[in-house]
Amino acid sequence: MNRSDFPFAEAGSIAAQMVERAYQSTRFYPAAEPRLQPLPQHPTGLTGFAQALGLLVDAGAALNSPAMLGHMDTAPHPAAAFADAVVSAMNNNMLFRELSPFASQVEEFLLTDIASRAGMSDAWRGTMTSGGAIANLSALFAAIGGFAQPELRHECAFFVPECAHNSIIKSLAVLGISRAAIHVIEADELGRSNLTTLENQLKRSGARRKIVVAVVGSTVHGAVEDIAALAAIVKEAGAWLHVDAIYGGALSFSIEFKHYLQGLDGAASVVMGPQKWMFVPRLNALLFIKGEDTFESSLGFANHYSANSSQHRGAWGLQGSRRADALTLWVLLQTIGTDSIAKVIDQSINTTRMFHHLLYEHPELKPSHQPDLNLQCFELRDVARQRDADSLDKVEKMLGRNGVPWVSRTRWRDNTVFRSVLLAPETRKAHLQALLDLPWA
Ligand SMILES: Cc1ncc(COP(=O)(O)O)c(C=O)c1O
Repeated sequence: MNRSDFPFAEAGSIAAQMVERAYQSTRFYPAAEPRLQPLPQHPTGLTGFAQALGLLVDAGAALNSPAMLGHMDTAPHPAAAFADAVVSAMNNNMLFRELSPFASQVEEFLLTDIASRAGMSDAWRGTMTSGGAIANLSALFAAIGGFAQPELRHECAFFVPECAHNSIIKSLAVLGISRAAIHVIEADELGRSNLTTLENQLKRSGARRKIVVAVVGSTVHGAVEDIAALAAIVKEAGAWLHVDAIYGGALSFSIEFKHYLQGLDGAASVVMGPQKWMFVPRLNALLFIKGEDTFESSLGFANHYSANSSQHRGAWGLQGSRRADALTLWVLLQTIGTDSIAKVIDQSINTTRMFHHLLYEHPELKPSHQPDLNLQCFELRDVARQRDADSLDKVEKMLGRNGVPWVSRTRWRDNTVFRSVLLAPETRKAHLQALLDLPWA
């Protein structure tokens, strides 16, 4: 394995062709599942490299496809995909500044820039984490006292909306929080906490620390909670407000819909996930804690492997080595500019509102809710068929092939509904029409 005589130009050209092929794909699922061959014992060179990459592209789910409407997943912008290859080649480690001098500076710059776009004051401090679940875990760890006050966790009560992502409850389990300390707040039809119920429950609770979780962009409906109202209630109760904006944090760049983030500065911790709606590859997330002292005392942990005087970005949080994901986002924003990301976000919300209208007028389908963002669940008007697994299986077989978009099935309370997420910037009315024109009857 000699890296110095690697054929960079030829391999780069093959990789570029494969990336292009990935973005040109119009199908969502491949026609067939390939059989994997045994690993070669000897080098296969560029031929093997090209074949392996080709298979990866041809056999994968084409998340870039405008027909991929099923999850909070699309392909990143090609500039981000290429940037990520360079980030991988450099392999800088955010653990220590000596292993990532520029990336550390970029991460600090982006955290400050995005916080300010989201209307957060300069009192916030942050770090990045590998994905949203780890960001939620880290924020909740800070909320229960972090490294400084591990004993506090047994005196905490949690107030969680029904629409919270399962990483919230998983995090609380990991943190050793008993079920009795977790209150799922009575919710509206999209799972958003009923504010009166929340206020009453906070008043009734005798816990030493009360932690309220709110969501901007819920996983099933893309529902947005009223953060400003929640912040006021939480302030009155002396509680900690954690805002899971893993999905909705991208609204920091929006022009038309930034108002959904109003009140964010009243929270104590916020997480955002660029990998969802900022068109960068997995995995990355931003974790913000309000107040330098709280950030330092809850998430700071000495690491003596590098004892020089640098401010290492690995000084905070639960992770050790960490990828320089900030660079990928930064290169993308340098390349496309913030206006184009704003335009794509705003366009997808507006397209979803149009889709809502088309569903409303459809003879066989109906929207399950009014969309806040770019998620729209829908269902068959015929309740018996909607509740029948065989009927839903039949529908699923029509999806994702021959240009027909693919949507996922999701459970909400006692119902199974179809869920669409209009993330791909290329999704147009024609794609939605192909879905609506299926023989639903
Ligand atoms: C609201 C919300 N929070 C957290 C997460 C977890 O993020 P990740 O998949 O990056 O771990 C998700 C994932 O979809 C989410 O929708």
